[in-house]
Amino acid sequence: EQIEKGGYEHFMLKEIFEQPKSIHDTMRGRLIVEEGVIKMAGIWDHIERFKNANRIIIIACGTSWHAGLIGEYLIEEYARIPVEVEYASEFRYRNPIITDKDVVIAISQSGETADTMAALKLAKERGAFIYGICNVVDSSIARITDAGSYTHAGPEIGVASTKAFTAQLTILSLIALKLGKHNGNLGNAEFMSLIAELDAIPKKIEEVLSSTHELVQNIAKDFITTTNFLYLGRGYNYPAALEGALKLKEISYIHAEGYPAAEMKHGPIALIDENMPIVIIAPRKGHYDKIVSNVQEIKARKGKIIAVVNKGDTQVSEMSDYVIEIPQTSECFSPIVASVPLQLLAYYIAVYRGANVDQPRNLAKSVTVE
Ligand code: AGP
Repeated sequence: EQIEKGGYEHFMLKEIFEQPKSIHDTMRGRLIVEEGVIKMAGIWDHIERFKNANRIIIIACGTSWHAGLIGEYLIEEYARIPVEVEYASEFRYRNPIITDKDVVIAISQSGETADTMAALKLAKERGAFIYGICNVVDSSIARITDAGSYTHAGPEIGVASTKAFTAQLTILSLIALKLGKHNGNLGNAEFMSLIAELDAIPKKIEEVLSSTHELVQNIAKDFITTTNFLYLGRGYNYPAALEGALKLKEISYIHAEGYPAAEMKHGPIALIDENMPIVIIAPRKGHYDKIVSNVQEIKARKGKIIAVVNKGDTQVSEMSDYVIEIPQTSECFSPIVASVPLQLLAYYIAVYRGANVDQPRNLAKSVTVE
């Protein structure tokens, strides 16, 4: 096992550090920047189904569901196809309206999640076209789908999903850009600039890992006895906030909630005092001015602010207790980059609390019961 961990203390840390490679592997052979193309046979062979789809329904659980939410933003923004994102466990029990004009995308790292599988079977019975985004090759979900794309993240052993999540975001980005380019909603110049940005993500993650690793480790030390956390983000980074909170809950057993930053005033703001740490994801592109005012509100109530900002940021940084800088990228890819320090934060808080990071209590890597 020590050999498999490749010198890292836990699989989770190893998997966090593998992300430049896993994202690169997921794009390899698909994103060909020099030719200005995205090659995805699974999409291309069924392009008419996507083109004529009334809507896309994304089905998933947990972290994969968070990836699905970001997929909704991506596909709606670039391909202009309506998207709904459903918890698999809710979807199947509410007699959903599904037609043969619907495309259902199932996202699952393991490809064995019982709730996702059951929801897919129902959608299939009702005539939808089923597309899979799985990490485990030849898994049950991969086998029952009509077509799909594997995330080539490699085996993920840590129960807390990290590299599979960023690989799922990579695939969803490729799908959204490919569909958008094909149906004419995404012009050539914007397409070219987005694919160049996407291609640069592995390098940016490398940079984040080396520049924030030690810093985040030190920040974590200040929160070992904390009992609650809030995670806030807007737009594409709202699901990234949900995911950051889930990571912390799963492995450190600290209660954490993710919220869209603007929803704070509708309730969670009541929780803020000097004992409440708030992780706020505030890259320059993406409602930055609005986030600044959210941060002011938190500051006025003495909340402890841990901000994830772009390099060179001043406004949010000046008001924050802790600042984690990440490189700038297009708004739509910012959750991929911003998630990395949040994974590290959850990891180190859990480690310092003496938790079993790779196998947290009560959790299984793949949930094969409904
Ligand atoms: C992620 O950290 C969790 N362990 C969990 O939420 C997981 O994402 C969920 O159970 C779905 O798993 P799947 O992607 O294998 O379907």
